[in-house]
Amino acid sequence: MHIKTAEFIGAFVEIKQLPKELIPEIAMVGRSNVGKSSLINKVLNRKRLAKSSSTPGKTRTINYYLVNREWYMVDLPGYGYAKVSKAEKQKWGKMIESYLYKRKQLIGVIQLLDIRHIPNENDMLMQSWLTNYSIPILVVATKADKISKGARQKQISLIRKAMDIRAEVNPIVFSAQTGEGTDEILESINSILP
Ligand code: GTP
Ligand code: MG
Repeated sequence: MHIKTAEFIGAFVEIKQLPKELIPEIAMVGRSNVGKSSLINKVLNRKRLAKSSSTPGKTRTINYYLVNREWYMVDLPGYGYAKVSKAEKQKWGKMIESYLYKRKQLIGVIQLLDIRHIPNENDMLMQSWLTNYSIPILVVATKADKISKGARQKQISLIRKAMDIRAEVNPIVFSAQTGEGTDEILESINSILP
């Protein structure tokens, strides 16, 4: 897929504010600071379209990007960010949950995992939750530039084991720094677009 246009459409705090058109959308999920916003910028080939930050908890709204005037890339707030109040965490959790559950335009989810770490409880919860609701998931192991090429396969095996990933599903190895994995992600998105 060639990216011709990518436009920021809006940042929303409530489900009822989301765009009403029946345009297919792909959402990013993953721990806070895992690299969701950075992936969006790399894959859409725009340097500062989505705001990324080394401080976790940067994305606190549901952000919409219209791609090729055909589909939306949706940046969701990360889970597990420690520095927000319990009340705010619950509010985000509920918002993300009702988004994933109710949004009929949602055709797939990209779940990001840090290639260096074993998936945590939240990652596994998210995975089983998406599976239960039959939402197609693309697992992306990101920050691949941070480990040696030799260490990758071992990390991928550990991730697969922890997440109980089906044999035929292979996580895409990605780096927002080098751009590795970008084409594979675009191909996968393309294959689920109507
Ligand atoms: P929240 O909005 O807080 O949920 O975070 P996020 O998942 O959107 O993460 P973001 O894209 O803001 O990236 C967090 C930090 O990780 C930033 O400092 C990025 O530069 C860095 N980062 C993201 N992806 C990569 C990568 O592939 N390689 C390296 N080396 N750094 C990355
Ligand atoms: Mg972000």
